[in-house]
Amino acid sequence: MPAWWQGAVIYQVWPRSFQDSDGDGVGDLRGIARRLDHLRGLGIDAIWISPIYPSPLADFGYDVADHCDVDPAFGTLADFDALVAAAHDCGLRVLLDYVANHTADTHPWFAASRASRDDPRRDWYIWRDPGPDGGPPNNWASEFGGSAWTLDPATGQYFYHAYLPQQPDLNWRNPAVQDAMLDVLRFWLDRGVDGFRVDAVHHLFEDLELRDNPPDPDWRPGMSPARRLRRDRTMDQPEVQSAIAAMRRVSDGYPGQRLLIGEAWLPIDRLMAYYGVDLAGFHLPFNFHLITTPWTAAAVAGLVRRYEAALPQGAWPNWVLGNHDRSRVASRLGGPQARVAAMLLLTLRGTPTLYQGEELGLADVPIPPELVRDPWEQRVPGLGLGRDPVRTPIPWEDAPQSGFTSGTPWLPVGADHRPLHAAAQAHDPDSMLWLYRALLSLRRREPALSLGPIAAVEALGDVLRYIRTDPADGRRLLVALNLGDAEQALDGGGTPLLSTHGDFGNPRRLRPHEGLVIELD
Ligand code: GLC
Repeated sequence: MPAWWQGAVIYQVWPRSFQDSDGDGVGDLRGIARRLDHLRGLGIDAIWISPIYPSPLADFGYDVADHCDVDPAFGTLADFDALVAAAHDCGLRVLLDYVANHTADTHPWFAASRASRDDPRRDWYIWRDPGPDGGPPNNWASEFGGSAWTLDPATGQYFYHAYLPQQPDLNWRNPAVQDAMLDVLRFWLDRGVDGFRVDAVHHLFEDLELRDNPPDPDWRPGMSPARRLRRDRTMDQPEVQSAIAAMRRVSDGYPGQRLLIGEAWLPIDRLMAYYGVDLAGFHLPFNFHLITTPWTAAAVAGLVRRYEAALPQGAWPNWVLGNHDRSRVASRLGGPQARVAAMLLLTLRGTPTLYQGEELGLADVPIPPELVRDPWEQRVPGLGLGRDPVRTPIPWEDAPQSGFTSGTPWLPVGADHRPLHAAAQAHDPDSMLWLYRALLSLRRREPALSLGPIAAVEALGDVLRYIRTDPADGRRLLVALNLGDAEQALDGGGTPLLSTHGDFGNPRRLRPHEGLVIELD
């Protein structure tokens, strides 16, 4: 029997921008509950909700001030329990974000830690003496620009932060920290959550000897300043595997196969270690490679073959087109190819994760400098690193602020998004929403597309093709995707089941930007 998450499709909710229920311009838990119909109608199986915890919002919720509560902007623990109950009632599972690497600097643990060098919590974070010149202990860089070390003048030491100075890194080498953080998992598992997406897990440990990171010869002007250095000493250190195994032991102690997904931006060979020894690590280490691979048939076919070949025995794959940190797929590839990409995502072998708004075909929203909220853009402006453009409110209907809020939204609803609202698309067979629903329902009807093996992955010019086989009856489905803008002939034949163009298509030719699923004879 496959596990529920192998056949599932996951949908990422970025709660600030999903649906507001109380007019403060910020989405909330009651808002998510109000939109469960949209998610059910779409045909997904689980939602992963980005952080909902109390936060001073230096990094919009990824700076957690209390891991075991809900920020008042999002609601209350009672609202959370009600959302989980309502989601479960309609067959949807709920995953939370688990921000393991760091806390907010307002977290009581950090307040104690910085209070004095002798505080029992001092060693809960990573404190070091200044370097010989009085500057930072070494050259490590923050992902968001600048040094990864900030001096605390009161105690005369620097603390380490992989991200913002307001996000001090926890010291996972301290067993008390591990225990406290594993208790956080238990807190939410006891409340009925079905699993977690573990944030920034590749950053959990750093080199104990504090050796400098070497320069990266591939860095070019225009790239993130943090990329000037290779992160050999600050990322993907060996100890991370035992920490992940400890998380997994906790989640395995609960009934119903609670799911652990890990966020680790790593090359394929290193990512595979995150499944753990004997698959006792993450069920799904996030596979982001579709986001970074050039959009050509040859490159994507090569990626699928390499990734499939690298999977450890018995490991289950997963695929992602976008999230709250990266330019939206409709902007990266353009509208017509975003439809082809949707078919790819939902017909590859493995668990897909959708990011809210992908199903509406939303593109990035340009944010004028005076409205920028993302600290990354504020600290490193003008390089296109800011994430506000992918975090704007979801347009729901033809109403003020597209039905997202009755107040003033915290980021603007994109002008180009207004006509794409969900209510309009629900009645338009040519819409992206219609295509996503059709793909998800085909995937549900055809176990070949969710659970079946994948074979014959190849690129023929602009055409990417592969075959999925029904594990029960051996029926074979050919997926043929035209990644180019010219018509392409297809050999073979068979019966088309779905075209990205909304009709059934023709099994002997692909129109420009068309994807087809064809049942082979
Ligand atoms: C992860 C999150 C990102 C956040 C960072 C720091 O990469 O996806 O949004 O800024 O971790 O927590």
